[in-house]
Amino acid sequence: MSLVSRRRSLIGGGAMELLGGLIPLVLGGAGVLLLYQLLQRVRQRAYIQDAVVVITGASSGLGKECARAFHAAGARLILCGRDRARLQELVQELTEAADGKRKTYSPSIVTFDLSDTETVASVAEEILRCHGHVDVLINNAGVSYRGDVLTTRVEVHKEVMGINYFGSVALTQAILPSMVQRRSGHIAVISSVQGKIAIPFRSAYAASKHATQAFFDCLRAEVEQYGVSVSVISPGYIRTSLSVNAVTGDGSRYGVQDKNTAEGRDPREVAEAVLRAVGRKRKDVLLAGPLPTLAVYIRTLCPPLFFKLMASRARKEQRPKED
Ligand SMILES: NC(=O)c1ccc[n+]([C@@H]2O[C@H](COP(=O)([O-])OP(=O)(O)OC[C@H]3O[C@@H](n4cnc5c(N)ncnc54)[C@H](OP(=O)(O)O)[C@@H]3O)[C@@H](O)[C@H]2O)c1
Repeated sequence: MSLVSRRRSLIGGGAMELLGGLIPLVLGGAGVLLLYQLLQRVRQRAYIQDAVVVITGASSGLGKECARAFHAAGARLILCGRDRARLQELVQELTEAADGKRKTYSPSIVTFDLSDTETVASVAEEILRCHGHVDVLINNAGVSYRGDVLTTRVEVHKEVMGINYFGSVALTQAILPSMVQRRSGHIAVISSVQGKIAIPFRSAYAASKHATQAFFDCLRAEVEQYGVSVSVISPGYIRTSLSVNAVTGDGSRYGVQDKNTAEGRDPREVAEAVLRAVGRKRKDVLLAGPLPTLAVYIRTLCPPLFFKLMASRARKEQRPKED
């Protein structure tokens, strides 16, 4: 054998040895990962099965899909919204869908208007009377907004803040003492990517979601010592009626299905992600595609670039309704 071919076979042997050592390492790593995921899934199931879960804004969109996902996972649901008839329809659908494979419960209904914070204390009492306690409160209800700062009435800012921020704050504060007393509970809130970045012609909405992020971050720190968990879940665009139901600068309904919303993620997929986030007690979850995620990083790491991009977007969208 020549010197060159002997060297080649030595190198080949070394590579084979390295590969032989790597394969068990990779397989072992994959096995540990699979086992971890399996354990997570088992823990998630146990956490949700039989848990008393309150969902606000359960009459449509993401809230409705969350109701379906948590019901299928065995939660004892309390569905909230303003429209009793739509909630009753959902309860009937869920009750009829029970296939006996898993223990499920017929949901309860509590109707109220989140913008009426005066009534929230009595609403919380009604909620607590359903099962004696609440394990998970999901603050999902919300309203969006389209308009420019120049012409938007201050009442509109108050309306959006009233539902998205003060409504969730009031309900959370009303349910919280019972969780602290039991040294157990979980409060989740559906915020938005717009709770992390502010985009033009969404001032009232983005402000309400930024406030939401801040409030629930403070809450998380304050109540961890009492065994209460807090999850802030921030999705990107979801295919729901959010833009149709949005309020405009003069207080009227926007009534248009935006392109972005129409092309957004399937609400069923997002509801499954909410179920996983709650089941795994995730503290802060961004459920967005690569572009909005990049925008969040740019806002944090290079604010001047973010501001430039937003100003250029505002110029392009001079007319807010063209979005
Ligand atoms: N769709 C998106 O692109 C997107 C993206 C990020 C975050 N989000 C967030 O996801 C959450 C759910 O929105 P969605 O997309 O599912 O929109 P949606 O279909 O319009 O649902 C909004 C829900 O909120 C309820 N609600 C509105 N105002 C209320 C009030 N004053 N009192 C009580 N309930 C009220 C509505 O109930 P009624 O039947 O009583 O009207 C409805 O069930 C919101 O917090 C929203 O900000 C949505």
